[in-house]
Amino acid sequence: MLWIPVLTWASAASASLSFSIDDSSFQKVLGDSSSRLDDFASSLGHLPPINPNPSPQERTLKDGEIPRYCIDFAPLVHLYSEERYMPYDIASFVENFKATWGNGSVIAENVSIDTLGDLPNSDDVYLTSLTDFDADPDWITGKHNHPSLIDGSIKEAPATLVVVDKGNGWVDAFWFYFYSFNLGPYVMGAGPYGNHVGDWEHSLVRFYNGKPQIVWMSAHGGGAAFKYEAMEKYAIDQRHPIIFSATGTHANYASVGQFPHDLPYNILCDFTDRGELWNPSRNYLGYTFDGINVFYAQNWNRQHQGREKKYGHWLKFSGHWGDAEIPMSDPRQKYNFIGGHKYIDGPTGPLSKNLLRSVPCERHKWWNVFGVCRIRHNLHFGIGVESEGYNCGAIFDWVRPRWLKSVLDKLTWGGVLCFVADLIGG
Ligand SMILES: *[C@@H]1O[C@H](CO)[C@@H](O)[C@H](O)[C@H]1NC(C)=O
Ligand SMILES: *[C@@H]1O[C@H](CO)[C@@H](O)[C@H](O)[C@H]1NC(C)=O
Repeated sequence: MLWIPVLTWASAASASLSFSIDDSSFQKVLGDSSSRLDDFASSLGHLPPINPNPSPQERTLKDGEIPRYCIDFAPLVHLYSEERYMPYDIASFVENFKATWGNGSVIAENVSIDTLGDLPNSDDVYLTSLTDFDADPDWITGKHNHPSLIDGSIKEAPATLVVVDKGNGWVDAFWFYFYSFNLGPYVMGAGPYGNHVGDWEHSLVRFYNGKPQIVWMSAHGGGAAFKYEAMEKYAIDQRHPIIFSATGTHANYASVGQFPHDLPYNILCDFTDRGELWNPSRNYLGYTFDGINVFYAQNWNRQHQGREKKYGHWLKFSGHWGDAEIPMSDPRQKYNFIGGHKYIDGPTGPLSKNLLRSVPCERHKWWNVFGVCRIRHNLHFGIGVESEGYNCGAIFDWVRPRWLKSVLDKLTWGGVLCFVADLIGG
């Protein structure tokens, strides 16, 4: 099967090159972003409105311009101390695949990062492993990709930064973290379930006039948004907020401990701790996006300048970054009533993550019928032995001795009291 390149190249004022995604993906991105703008706007108080499609007068950034503050306030990421699936370079990753349709018929026998965007513009396209990913080869584990002890960079695994001008002084900096494999959670000792090849996670730092306002991070249950002030900061440079990448799933949280999600009674949990500290801003690929065009940015790290162009128009790829859910006939596949399938579809790429959103949250869980995107003013702590904090509002913080406070916690745990306190105080 041949593919038809729909790419249009154009030169831009800022010495960057741009490429367009076609109208259908544009509509898809736009279509997702509508919800609950009014709620969010009212929480801004005196600040001007966010406009995902700003007019030239409302814009503050040029195409391909990444302001320095996006780098200075970039999140640092604590990987899990015993993480088995580390960040990976997307260019090396894609060398391990052919491109296929969902029905398995081959589109291209091999792919490379600079030709990825030439594949058909469809989410029925999959990168399908050329070798057995289940055997944990190095390209799946990324086991050599540890952050440098000197500057926190991972030399062989650039992060991806996409900056979107939201008008009137608002700027969104989306940091994307790529891991070759997502190891899903265990369900009551069985599992893991929900594994997939290719794992895109991301966080958002939203700025107003160059000042960070809100940090949102992707996680199960739709992710969480916090006031920038509420976030933990990097001790050595207090501008950087800290986020925590959960073991296996790489979901992002604002604190350490155990995070129940999706199912009651803590059946499914993510775990975070203070493992190695990754500084993605020391090695990244930078782009700006205006809803239609992607522009290569001038990289703030001198040694990486021009690399965006070498990687090419890969953001245009609208297929899956990993194998399709493997069939039950394959011995590697398993199914569990609660956990679902052991192996599921690889995810689609960064531009499918609702970058034109007005509210900071990417999407909502089905039960969140009002589509509320809550912005927390206090950190939400994990539970369990690794927890470093406490979520029962602040109502018992003053109680001494500590054992009495602990008894009070226990007495209200599971009741509505802590839930309500967290709603009010969180
Ligand atoms: C697989 O799907 C593609 C795209 O929908 C189609 O063009 C192709 O003919 C299909 N192949 C088979 C064997 O069904
Ligand atoms: C990739 O596939 C094409 C044909 O689809 C072939 O001509 C080319 O040699 C292959 N490249 C590599 C590196 O295998």
